[in-house]
Amino acid sequence: MKNLKFLIFITLLVSFQLAKSEDNKAAIASAHPLATYAGFEILSQGGNAFDAAVAVSAALSVVEPAGSGLGGGGFWLLHRASDGFQTMIDGREKAPLSANKNMFLDQQGNVIKGLSKDGALSAGIPGLPAALVHLSDKYGKLPLEITLQPAINYAEQGFSIGERHRKLLKFRLAILQQNKSTARIFLSNNNVPKEKALLKQLDLANTLKQIAKDGKKGFYSGKVADLLINSVQKAGGIWTQKDLDQYKIIEREPVKGQYQGVKITSAALPSSGGVVLIEALNILSTYPLKTLDGISRKHLISEAMRRAYHDRAYYLGDTDFVDVPVQRLINPDYAAGLRMTIRQDKATPSSFFAGNSQEKKGGHDTTHFSIIDKEGNRVSATLSVNFPFGSGFVAEGTGVLLNDEMDDFVSKTGEMNGYGLVGGLANSIEPEKRMLSSMSPTFIEDETRIGVLGTPGGSRIISMVLLAILDFAEGNGPESWVELPRYHHQYIPDLIQYEKGALTNDEIEGLQSLGHKVKEKKYRYGNMQGVLYNKKFKTFSVASDPRGEGRALIR
Ligand code: GLY
Repeated sequence: MKNLKFLIFITLLVSFQLAKSEDNKAAIASAHPLATYAGFEILSQGGNAFDAAVAVSAALSVVEPAGSGLGGGGFWLLHRASDGFQTMIDGREKAPLSANKNMFLDQQGNVIKGLSKDGALSAGIPGLPAALVHLSDKYGKLPLEITLQPAINYAEQGFSIGERHRKLLKFRLAILQQNKSTARIFLSNNNVPKEKALLKQLDLANTLKQIAKDGKKGFYSGKVADLLINSVQKAGGIWTQKDLDQYKIIEREPVKGQYQGVKITSAALPSSGGVVLIEALNILSTYPLKTLDGISRKHLISEAMRRAYHDRAYYLGDTDFVDVPVQRLINPDYAAGLRMTIRQDKATPSSFFAGNSQEKKGGHDTTHFSIIDKEGNRVSATLSVNFPFGSGFVAEGTGVLLNDEMDDFVSKTGEMNGYGLVGGLANSIEPEKRMLSSMSPTFIEDETRIGVLGTPGGSRIISMVLLAILDFAEGNGPESWVELPRYHHQYIPDLIQYEKGALTNDEIEGLQSLGHKVKEKKYRYGNMQGVLYNKKFKTFSVASDPRGEGRALIR
């Protein structure tokens, strides 16, 4: 007995000391090892999580140009440990001042294929540079000269491109070949460079240096701005200096909700992420999902996704331009009404709501990183240039690859965008409006654990984060969230899309017998980056999606 007590004492002592050993540490998970290292380098120089976020965002602009960049935008969800303050930095792109709702239609009113996705006209006014400056000035401890330095080094010295980079170049090759400045930087003899080829981006390094020196003015006015505007206008785009002058960061209150004891904090509009997530989780909140068989569980989760994505299509847009009934959509009583429309024995056809059905490719664009520093500050950030390598257009002399985020607007009511998403007037194009996003940087917290997570993946971002939250609620950590085989329903197309292994043969048959259409994806999608802190043991766990080439570390 005495021995047993001694053993318990020793075990507790050892686990306490193990726990203590991570007390002074930080955790970062990002989509590229060099971006993760950049974040740690800045922490080691005395920066906080927000400084590290500047460094990681800028580094990703250089080393993962397919996903995000200075020519794009994003959402940074922040938690400040000293006072518990939480906010979302909205660095989403805006429609140019002379944009209009018919700009991607021909004279007959039909959508001109590719115009909202390829080339200079498809680019919104970038928000990422302004967001980096805002994040640094308002929340950081170090100057931009320090936090942008790792990215500048990567751009100047170059880095070896990975397989994912090459695959995405191939995917967008035809567009990248059309623009000389793009081809000069990213292609070799107008083709995909060899494995591990060195990519140097000297113009981009200079643009980063201008931002480090002059802050927002370094990008939105002066030499860089002149080059951006000349280049865009020459290529048929509509940017003016006034567009750049008027770009502003907005801080927004994150969307919050609860699911079976888990507190969720996620992106506010103009990202649909928070609203759709909370609405779907509210619908699911009374089902005993953990104890249900696979068919019932996946049926109910798909039905919740269907309803929440339906409301996305019809209600959601930029709240600076349209009234959105956010409080109603995230109210548990509203969800209770929707839950009553779900039959346990039958799928509800999406045609009962409206729309048609078709499917589009996507899921490899955008990027995400998650950080918790030693003080407990947190950043969950999802950044994008929309499609892989954005519009494929580099503004000559800047090294800046422009986004094609205009495709996230509704070019024509009822017509699908590149992700097969439909929408209505709430998300139609208007000058200076921010296009609706699905990016869902998220915090999750229960009594003992804090999670930071997110992923790229276009319209599937929200369902990926939803599945990860359900997994967290069942007690699992980041290694499990990032590996989960994924399935998805987005109302239109009316089918459950799934990765190999996400549905068993029995589940496929069972779901079909309930009336669901199911379709296996040819590829695995998403690139989730997760960090978890255990408040009780003061330990971290981290994971980077095995589908990508990222790195998650604790140091
Ligand atoms: N461009 C992808 C998104 O914002 O949802």
